[in-house]
Amino acid sequence: MRKKNQKRIAVLTGGGDCPGLNAVLRAITKQAILEHDLEIIGIEDGYEGLIRNRHQRLDYDDVSGILNLGGTILGTSNRANPFRYQIGRGKHPDFSDVSDKVVKNLKTLGVECLVCIGGDGTLSIAHGLSQKGVPIIGVPKTIDNDIQGTDVSFGFDSAVQVCTDAIDRLHSTAKSHHRVMIVEVMGRTAGWIALHSGIAGGGDIILLPELPYDLDPIMEVLKARNRKGRRFSIIVVAEGAKSRGGKVVLQTRGDGGVASERLGGIGFALGREIEQAADLETRVVVLGHLQRSGSPSAFDRILGTRLGSEAVAMIMAKRFGAMVGVKGNRLCHTPLKSIAKGPRNVPKNHPLIAVAESVGTCMGRTL
Ligand code: F6P
Repeated sequence: MRKKNQKRIAVLTGGGDCPGLNAVLRAITKQAILEHDLEIIGIEDGYEGLIRNRHQRLDYDDVSGILNLGGTILGTSNRANPFRYQIGRGKHPDFSDVSDKVVKNLKTLGVECLVCIGGDGTLSIAHGLSQKGVPIIGVPKTIDNDIQGTDVSFGFDSAVQVCTDAIDRLHSTAKSHHRVMIVEVMGRTAGWIALHSGIAGGGDIILLPELPYDLDPIMEVLKARNRKGRRFSIIVVAEGAKSRGGKVVLQTRGDGGVASERLGGIGFALGREIEQAADLETRVVVLGHLQRSGSPSAFDRILGTRLGSEAVAMIMAKRFGAMVGVKGNRLCHTPLKSIAKGPRNVPKNHPLIAVAESVGTCMGRTL
């Protein structure tokens, strides 16, 4: 039961899930209850729940024991954009702006603030709602690590570990069969996962969206390794990588709905190019949603807890219209409007690219 005059806040998780979401929900709920006696309303399935008025009260016991759980106890959706809500599912769906309905639903709920935990899509929508007068605080999440206003997002460390474990495992079969093994990892237009897991797993070739690749240096590395008796190679390729002058490979072009364009398939395209160019047997492993699944790493649990705790501090200080993030190792606040300006890609001069090349890793270019 809500106590008399007890303040109420709402929280939602939007966009693709990732490990660490539950750590944030737990931190927000526990701190808001223990330190400020707030009532927490969990909105179900991201903005879908705000549009359709689906929510649940989160009590202390609801968030107890969820720190190590992957996914989100609230559910999520990456299709429900209140500013462009898809009506119908067919080939030519209609879209409608239902943002006023969302604002009304929040008013009726009587919440002091809405905490939106999500990636750039969710946070851009949060910015739109904030411009309509909704008091909002953003918390960044994504395995892609590509959100403006923070050096790191939770989910990334866990995803990098999954990819690194996979690359470690693939070494033995690649070696036994004398094959080229291509590992395709996620990240959309950003190469952070490929760069980090490629270095951690000791990939021979790492291909990022930010550095369009040439086939020649790749083939040179593969053949040179064979000549030296290292008759296998591991290539880590980001799903958003493309050849110089080429296009990003898409699984589905989509129907114009939210997040409907799905990347994927560059691993197979590259595998075909390699087999056509030389007598090198090649196999492709697409790690896909395994990278988003399972228990969060210790790092992501701690980061999620820090961000959740700071989000509550921001509510109490009425620092609305901003996102909590990390710069260096310190928490920081960034206005939501500057998050909406697109993904944070790997800079071409990022020190880790130079480090990879300094140990002989090919980044798809001739040095
Ligand atoms: O943004 C996270 C992410 O996992 C991307 O790396 C990937 O391209 C996309 O989401 C996959 O989305 P979906 O779960 O809709 O297939």
